[in-house]
Amino acid sequence: MTIPSVGILGTGSYLPEKKMMNIDLEKIVDTTDEWIVSRTGIKERRIVSDDQATSDLAYEASLKALQRAGITAEQLGLIIVATVTPDMTFPSTANLIQERLGAKKAASFDLAAACSGFLYGLTMASQSIRTGLYQYALVIGAESLSKIVDWEDRNTSVLFGDGAGAVVLGKVDEGYGFLSFELGADGGGGDFLYLPGGGSRCPATEKSVKNKQHYVKMNGKEVFKFAVRVMEQVSESVLEKAGLLKEDVALLVPHQANLRIIDAARKRLELPEDKVVVNLDKYGNMSSASIPVALDEAVRGNQVKRGDHLVLVGFGGGLTWGGCVIRWDQEMTSA
Ligand code: UT7
Repeated sequence: MTIPSVGILGTGSYLPEKKMMNIDLEKIVDTTDEWIVSRTGIKERRIVSDDQATSDLAYEASLKALQRAGITAEQLGLIIVATVTPDMTFPSTANLIQERLGAKKAASFDLAAACSGFLYGLTMASQSIRTGLYQYALVIGAESLSKIVDWEDRNTSVLFGDGAGAVVLGKVDEGYGFLSFELGADGGGGDFLYLPGGGSRCPATEKSVKNKQHYVKMNGKEVFKFAVRVMEQVSESVLEKAGLLKEDVALLVPHQANLRIIDAARKRLELPEDKVVVNLDKYGNMSSASIPVALDEAVRGNQVKRGDHLVLVGFGGGLTWGGCVIRWDQEMTSA
């Protein structure tokens, strides 16, 4: 039996309408537009409304990805939602999407690997298509991070934003699609970026709320050092596994956490700026949604053509990291 090639058949994204600018944050915490732009590259971010939850964003992104892939929800065999901000603990956000899309034949589950979650989801979904378990899979990265950020903490509140990106995976022409993957984790760095409250270790109590246990905690400096190291290592490793050289890369689609981290990876790969997708100026860090939203915008902006080699690479809490190389199969439309 020949193992089929698997790739991305369609992409979609959704961003909430409400924009929060850096000057809006100046009114809430002791920060400046100048500090945020020079240290991170972020100028604005999108924020969900009070009545919107992660599944609402994920649903809209999924509709677009399905439409561009030219398949119906009923054809899906698998739905994975990568998120650290599910609507609730259970049922999973993927179950909610499955019902809302009418994807009656799909198995569905959430995946928690923080900002690397989308890459973890791509890897798992593509392997299950390669082995013949499913024909089509929907992989979504979706977050409402504004709901878990301490708006009084300038170390974190300026960084994050809300949004969702989705892709449909299926078989592609031989030699196209995913050429290599890499995933990794270092649980020893778990306390560099985490949310302590709401689980079985620290369930919600009056005290946990008062002590701000339900908000993101981060050691920015440690995450920064780790991020620069793994972004470079993983990019080089997935290229090597795919049998490609730096000069073969048409587009780098990195996790959007900090422009200085992205630049370090870009320089290591010796890529010009126009071969790197950057949208964190508009959206901030959307954790698992960052890469699929960036990919969707690149595809719709006609930055990707058939035969191009794309490197997707990211890192996140856990600590976790991941990357893959794709030889793009689709002739893209800017629909
Ligand atoms: O998806 C993964 C999520 N997380 C990340 O990727 C985070 C990775 N880390 C980073 O991006 C950077 O470390 C930060 C942007 C978070 C911080 O940048 P930095 O250049 O590492 O700044 P720093 O932490 O060294 O802070 C420098 C100063 C400190 O003041 P003192 O102690 O020197 O007086 C901070 O208190 O900047 C201060 N500071 C701020 N000042 C104005 C920290 N946050 C702010 C702020 N506005 N928002």
